Amino acid sequence: MKRVKTIIEPFKIKTIEPIRFLTRRERQQVLTDAGYNLFNIHADDVLIDLLTDSGTAALSARQWAGIMEGDEAYAGSRSFYRFEKNVREITGLRHIIPTHQGRAAERILFTITGGEGRIFPNNTHFDTTRANVEMSGADAVDLPVPEGALPSVEGNFKGNMDLEALEALIRQRGPEHIPLCMITVTNNANGGQPVSMENIRNTSELCHATGIPLFLDACRFAENAYFIKLREPGYRRKSTREIAREMFSYADGCTMSAKKDALVNIGGFLAVNDDNLAQKARSILVVTEGFPTYGGLAGHDLEAIAQGLREVLDEHYLKYRLRSVAYVGEKLSEIGVPVFQPPGGHAIYIDAKAFLPHVPSHEYPGQSLACELYLHGGIRSCEIGSVMFGKRDPSTGAFQPARLELVRLAIPRRVYTQSHMDYVLECIGEVFAKRDKLKGMRIVSEPPLLRHFTARFEPL
Ligand SMILES: Cc1ncc(COP(=O)(O)O)c(C=O)c1O
Repeated sequence: MKRVKTIIEPFKIKTIEPIRFLTRRERQQVLTDAGYNLFNIHADDVLIDLLTDSGTAALSARQWAGIMEGDEAYAGSRSFYRFEKNVREITGLRHIIPTHQGRAAERILFTITGGEGRIFPNNTHFDTTRANVEMSGADAVDLPVPEGALPSVEGNFKGNMDLEALEALIRQRGPEHIPLCMITVTNNANGGQPVSMENIRNTSELCHATGIPLFLDACRFAENAYFIKLREPGYRRKSTREIAREMFSYADGCTMSAKKDALVNIGGFLAVNDDNLAQKARSILVVTEGFPTYGGLAGHDLEAIAQGLREVLDEHYLKYRLRSVAYVGEKLSEIGVPVFQPPGGHAIYIDAKAFLPHVPSHEYPGQSLACELYLHGGIRSCEIGSVMFGKRDPSTGAFQPARLELVRLAIPRRVYTQSHMDYVLECIGEVFAKRDKLKGMRIVSEPPLLRHFTARFEPL
């Protein structure tokens, strides 16, 4: 008997939210007012919002039910204990410390472990992780495998850590200056590519041999675990939960933005095994986030996270999730649009350098493309290139471009249907057909840190 091959959304839609259609002329006005920065646009003026997959998930009926059950006690809330139990079941880590989102966990961790003269290696730091490391006075060093930087090269685990480079760094700088090493799963700033179990295990062994703790930036642990199931020999018959548990077993702690793979709109946590580190973290938590059993979240948020962590490991969900993101990537490749290969877990990354070869990095090809996608079809995407990671050398003033010029189409979880994605594909195809006419951008004003959020631009 033939089996039906179509992979469908493993849910029905119970609540809907209308989206608003503007004309191109109206969008031009919106963009001009926003200083050509898509972070400055009112969400109501966006038709399809692919700015981020963070905090944009649709909640399930069970999560909403959990929200009604939320226990809002200041101390010892029932919801905290449910949250703690579910996080511990997956991570196996001893101390579970809730925070209002991922960057709060990062700030606490790097406030304690960071400082002048210290070095933090990571397969690739996400922007807030890098900012928190640097704000402590320490250096954030990215060590992705070389093929991770080549958008057109296929590979199963292009998010991996470069172990030779890590070994060399530990040797040159000395383990005493490296308070911890981090692996980001999946590697968001490097095309959303997964990290293999073998790479996590080997990184862990290398670090532990010199007394360096290993942490996971675990935002997308479930998507990474499912990639391991699909692509790494020996894991096909294991459940995603078992795979996730093994990933965490090599780590001494993790930071987590629950806004991704806990399928919620707000929340996060820091989890560690070290009693001393946990005690210091809780002391900071009480001052800046809240009492250790709520950490800046409402009891109902903790319920939603606890339930989301169960749902995200459902393999029907993960199969649909990874397949629906790959669909967008494959269709774009079919029409010749250069995308980071292979498609990542939560997003498709258009290679803006290859899309607009006539726009040099210092004229921000990614920003130019992202603005045109908004103008043409009301699609909001995100530049991940020289606007986000480019720098000026403080002594010479010379422009240092980012390694890659990408435009990220991040797909919110359980929000858009296939016809929404077909609309996006058609729109990108039309912009691609007239790509020769697109021009670069100039920065008019920018803040000292995380400039992509608030900088203002002008078309050249
Ligand atoms: C890999 C990674 N780490 C950390 C963060 C920060 O999480 P949050 O936005 O919850 O502060 C993000 C957010 O996008 C991320 O993608």
